[in-house]
Amino acid sequence: MKALRADLLDFTAAPAWGATADAAVRWRPDHWLLVADDGRIAGVQAEDPGDGVERHCHRGRLLLPGFIDTHVHSPQVGVMASYGTELLDWLNTYTFPAESAWADAAVAAAGTAHFLDALLAHGTTAAVVFPTVHKVSAEALFQQASTRGMRIIGGKVLMDRHAPPALLDTVAQAERDCIDLIQRWHGQGRNSYAVTVRFAPTSTPAQLAMAGELCRADSSLYMQTHVAENRDEVRWVAELFPQARSYLGVYETAGLLHPRSVLAHGIWLDDNDRSALHAAGAQVAFCPSSNLFLGSGLFDWPAAVRSGFNVSMASDVGGGTSLSMQRTLADAYKVQALAGQRLTAWSALHSATRGAAQALGLEGEIGSLEPGLMADLCLWDKSLTPIDTHRQAMARDLHEQLFAWLLLSDERHLASTWVAGQEKYKRRTSP
Ligand code: GUN
Ligand code: ZN
Repeated sequence: MKALRADLLDFTAAPAWGATADAAVRWRPDHWLLVADDGRIAGVQAEDPGDGVERHCHRGRLLLPGFIDTHVHSPQVGVMASYGTELLDWLNTYTFPAESAWADAAVAAAGTAHFLDALLAHGTTAAVVFPTVHKVSAEALFQQASTRGMRIIGGKVLMDRHAPPALLDTVAQAERDCIDLIQRWHGQGRNSYAVTVRFAPTSTPAQLAMAGELCRADSSLYMQTHVAENRDEVRWVAELFPQARSYLGVYETAGLLHPRSVLAHGIWLDDNDRSALHAAGAQVAFCPSSNLFLGSGLFDWPAAVRSGFNVSMASDVGGGTSLSMQRTLADAYKVQALAGQRLTAWSALHSATRGAAQALGLEGEIGSLEPGLMADLCLWDKSLTPIDTHRQAMARDLHEQLFAWLLLSDERHLASTWVAGQEKYKRRTSP
C-alpha cells in the first residue's frame, strides 16, 4: 500500500451547466489517497495513514484523476502547428504524407512510443486514438499502451478512397485486419478496439457497411470517426451521399451510431442530428483547439446539453496545437465565450475526467478518485511562475482558484503521472 498527500479534486456527478458552486464537486484539501498494491484506489482519508504505508507528501499540490483525451491521432504529433490551411487542404498537404510513413513498422513503433510518453507527460492516462490505416500502427498502439498500462481505445483506420495510394486499404483486407486485431487486442489488458472510420469521404458505402457489420456483431466494440467538422467537408459529403439525410445520417444508415460511438467535432449539426446522437447514446468529442486552429467553427455545447447527448474533451492533435488538456479546456472556454456562453472550471474538468469515463462506459474503471477504480492519477503544481502565483493569491473562492489554474497552467505544471498506481512520469527539473 502507498499513500499520496495532496489536495484532491474529482466529481461525484455532472456539475450543472454554468454553476460555479455545485454539490457534485468533491474537494478534499490536504487528504491522503491510498493506493493498493493491485493498482486500485483503496480509499481517501484526512488522517496520516501511519508508518506501515509508503507515504508521499505532496502537500499544496493538486491531485486529479488522470485526464481522458477522447480524440487524438498518434501519427500527428509532428503535424501540429502546420501553417495556412483548412481541413481538406491540411489533410492533403500535411497529414496524409505524415501518416504514409507509418506503413513501416519501425517508424510506427518509434512514433507510438513518443506519442504515448507525451500523453503521460501531459497528465493523460486514457485516450481514444486514431493511428493510421496500416495494421502495424494499431499493433504498435496496443502493444505499447500495454507495456505502459494505459487505458487505450483505438483501431486500424478504415479508408478505401480519396487518399494517396499508400493510405488506402480495401474492404476485404480491412475486414480481415480488423477481425484479427479485435481477436488479439480487444479486452486484452486495458485495450479496447474501436472500429475506426476516418470520415465518410474516405470510405466507400461498401466499407461503411462492413464497419457497421463489425459493430453489429459485437456490441462491446467502440466506433470512432469524424463528423461535421468543416463546411467544405460537409458539402463534399452531401455530394458523395446524395440520399443521406445529413452527414451524421451517413453513419446512422451504416449502423455506426451506438452507445460506444465517439464522433469528433460535430460543429455543423442540426437538431435532428442532435436528437439522433441522444437516441443512440453516442458522444461528441469536442476539439476546441483544433476547431480554432483549422478555422472549422464553434461547437454549440449548450445545444448538446439541451439535446442530452454526451460531450467529452479532446485535443485532436495534430489539428489541435497541444496535448495539454488544460490548454484544450482553456480553448473550450474561449469557444463558448465567443458564442456568448460560459464554461465553468467544473464542467470543463468533469468533461475531461468522470464525464468522459461515463460517456465511454468506463466509470467503473477511471475518471474519479473513488475506491475500487484504477489509480490513474495526475499531480499538478498550482502555480509555477510569478504571474500565476500572483493570480492564485488573488482567487477569492475555490472556483476562481481552479478556473485560474485551468486557464494559466499547462504540462509544465505536471509533477507526476501514475497509471494503475505506478508512477510513469515524473518531472525531472524542479519548478
Ligand atoms: N477528418 C478526417 N481526418 C481527419 C484528421 O486527421 N483530423 C481532423 N481534425 N479531421 C479529420
Ligand atoms: Zn481528428
